[in-house]
Amino acid sequence: MKIVFATNNRHKLDEIRKITEGKIEILSLSDINCREEIPETGTTLEENALLKAQFVKEKFGFDCFADDTGLEADALGGAPGVYSARYAGKQCNPQDNMNKLLSEMQAAANRKAQFRTVIALILNQKEYYFEGKIRGEIISDKRGSAGFGYDPVFMPDGYNKTFAELGEEEKNKISHRAIATNKLIDFLLSI
Ligand code: IMP
Repeated sequence: MKIVFATNNRHKLDEIRKITEGKIEILSLSDINCREEIPETGTTLEENALLKAQFVKEKFGFDCFADDTGLEADALGGAPGVYSARYAGKQCNPQDNMNKLLSEMQAAANRKAQFRTVIALILNQKEYYFEGKIRGEIISDKRGSAGFGYDPVFMPDGYNKTFAELGEEEKNKISHRAIATNKLIDFLLSI
């Protein structure tokens, strides 16, 4: 089975390709020559994931899936959530985002947070959603160099290492994206 993953994020593509290896062939946006900026104007993870999948389906005709992920801190009412990528502003980088998060969380007694991934799939004219969550906490400094995004400040429950210290292989076994992706794979293999 071939399906498009509507993302430009090389890390996510590599992660998902590793998880789906031998089961499903994942085409990237560059594989289908999609070079356009895909709008992410939704106000929820579900809406954004669907917008991206719809864009590819409408313009290129491929069945496809797209994901949207947010880091949701309890003490911040679920922020940065759907705005995780541009938390510190439009032109910001992961360091800026983490710095802002650590500063917003400085006085917070409750450090609990979760990564949540929503995958929207458009297949044979129908829409499906798959969710993956992992609970943990935002530590007060950055630790580790693996992974990407907020990995250095997120420590999953049951571990004393951040995602960035765990490394890609360990992270891929337990991550929010792995959970959502495994649900997607189970579904695709069951039809
Ligand atoms: P998006 O779903 O690619 O838009 O991701 C939203 C934001 O969450 C970006 O800032 C990413 O860097 C961050 N993010 C997404 N997945 C992860 C992850 O697995 N670890 C750390 N940060 C992530």
